[in-house]
Amino acid sequence: MNENPQATIRKFQPGDREDVRRICCSSAFLGSPSSLFFEGDEIFADAITLYFTDYEPESCFVAEYQGKVVGYIIGAKDVSRARRKDILFKLLKKAITSAVLFKPRNMLFIWHCLVSLLKGEFSEPDFSRDYPATLHINIQEGFRGSDIGTGLIAAYLKYLKEEGVRGVHLATLSERAGNFFTQQGFDLLYKGRRTYLRYVLYQELPLYIYGKRLV
Ligand SMILES: CC(C)(COP(=O)(O)OP(=O)(O)OC[C@H]1O[C@@H](n2cnc3c(N)ncnc32)[C@H](O)[C@@H]1OP(=O)(O)O)[C@@H](O)C(=O)NCCC(=O)NCCS
Repeated sequence: MNENPQATIRKFQPGDREDVRRICCSSAFLGSPSSLFFEGDEIFADAITLYFTDYEPESCFVAEYQGKVVGYIIGAKDVSRARRKDILFKLLKKAITSAVLFKPRNMLFIWHCLVSLLKGEFSEPDFSRDYPATLHINIQEGFRGSDIGTGLIAAYLKYLKEEGVRGVHLATLSERAGNFFTQQGFDLLYKGRRTYLRYVLYQELPLYIYGKRLV
């Protein structure tokens, strides 16, 4: 589809599923592995990627370098459809029956998330009316800063425009990723804070929501 000197950007195919999940787990924590705060890659990858790869694969793209997937953008044209309760229940059941939920590291993480929830940290404004689409993007370490993210965003935005989608928004905890989205023409819609990873990082994190209108 779109070539640059290092990677080819193309539509996601079912065979890319494991690579997407691998990259997700290895870079989900501000570019570092999710295992720093959560034990159980299977459940973690399900929570972040399952809707996109299994229910809306047509809205996903990957970057391939020398035959290997090194980055992805997974999206949904309508974020409200991605918040499926049946997926949540399926994940919860899997986490309980596999005992992943009861691993000490995960119980600590869940406890801190619950505290954040009670503090109202998860009640950010809903931007889905003007910016119905959403996305997750991750580039494997060693391939960042080579325009692969720019290529994936361009392919996804082109697709959304062709599909007549009004706008797209996303949330990130990473200030550095925020700079990237600003460069891609996204506007900062909201800034909040998250304290649930303070026990790992010894600091609270900003939460940024970025949006871009497409029509
Ligand atoms: C953020 C991310 C998707 C950007 O993709 P990328 O391929 O590394 O970015 P590109 O090479 O296309 O960069 C495009 C521009 O953004 C800037 N940029 C990219 N990453 C940046 C960063 N971390 N901090 C500041 N600027 C950044 C680059 O300087 C570049 O600008 P330039 O062309 O003027 O030099 C990628 O670095 C990544 O996956 N990071 C780790 C996980 C993450 O943060 N994901 C996003 C969570 S929503």
